[in-house]
Amino acid sequence: MSLVAHSLDVIRRFQAPSGAYPASPTFSAYRGYSWLRDGAFIAEGASRHGDVAGADAFHAWSARVVGDRAGQVEALVARAARGEPIPAAEMLPTRFTLDGVAGADAWWDFQLDGYGTWLWALREHAARHGTAPAGVEKGVRTAARYLSAFWHRPCYDWWEEHLEQRHVATLGAVHAGLRAAAALGVLSASESAAAGEAVAGIAGLVAREGVTPEGHLRKWLGGDAVDASLLACVEPFGLYPAGHPVGAATVAEVERRLARDGGVYRYLADTFYGGGRWPLLSGLLGWNHARAGRRVEAARYLGWMAAQATPEGDLPEQVAGPLLAPERRREWLERWGPVATPLLWSHGMYLILADELGVTS
Ligand code: BGC
Repeated sequence: MSLVAHSLDVIRRFQAPSGAYPASPTFSAYRGYSWLRDGAFIAEGASRHGDVAGADAFHAWSARVVGDRAGQVEALVARAARGEPIPAAEMLPTRFTLDGVAGADAWWDFQLDGYGTWLWALREHAARHGTAPAGVEKGVRTAARYLSAFWHRPCYDWWEEHLEQRHVATLGAVHAGLRAAAALGVLSASESAAAGEAVAGIAGLVAREGVTPEGHLRKWLGGDAVDASLLACVEPFGLYPAGHPVGAATVAEVERRLARDGGVYRYLADTFYGGGRWPLLSGLLGWNHARAGRRVEAARYLGWMAAQATPEGDLPEQVAGPLLAPERRREWLERWGPVATPLLWSHGMYLILADELGVTS
């Protein structure tokens, strides 16, 4: 079976009857949970390869889960309007059980990016297949109200770290999500206006504080590090398009600092499982190359991803190879067991990059 076919099979086989995509069906710390961030990219991969029903089911599930929290969002917005400080723990969750509730296990909750990425993926899916799944309006409006009200707050990043910072990749996801929500045509006039203000606010803030003197995006406002999640601010989120000097410099700098032999590290100070290379980030870098017309480079990243599959064809979350912090690997193996495999997000990114390159089987 080709890796495209196997990836589609893994994604279909493990999708819950509710529509949720588990991050990794077997991994101790992720089992039973679905993330909007992972799920959005997984659905995008499925949508591109014709699994319309699967992507529909994921988007319908997400819309229900988010829409069910409309009352909580209204209360949060009202409290914020009164100037009340709201602890991070009272914001919406980062991940949900496959049935769509918050779940009893503690997590690094309060991440805004997943809500934006979900809206972005829903809009892509709807535009590609000509229709959005029924009944998503309430979820879209709830997510848009939430992001419009809270986009400027610090929160955990893609890697569920640094709650105290404002992460540029998160701002990029929110920017894309609010544009997508407006384009879906279900927001009221006041919701559209609030979304438009937030989009302009994000663009201005990142231009002022999110770009280094060398001209590339920063991992977080005011910092100097880069992070591979920044690639998404170019493709697919389009905060800076590939042709813009900041977009081009960001892709070049991430590749220079974080890519090695086709694999991509998250960031240089990474110690999770010793800090290996992440196939899904090779997918994101390859996607950027493909969109910028660099097909040979894009194909090299696709090839590296495929070479990381297990004999069964499963893609892991990360690969040991040369580690950034080898002395830190063992503690994670002891804490959570072997690296998450299969990671559905890795398969989703493989499908996206394969599609960009016209690889269909
Ligand atoms: C990663 C997140 C991801 C989650 C589920 C975490 O280890 O840092 O980016 O969403 O796993 O795959």
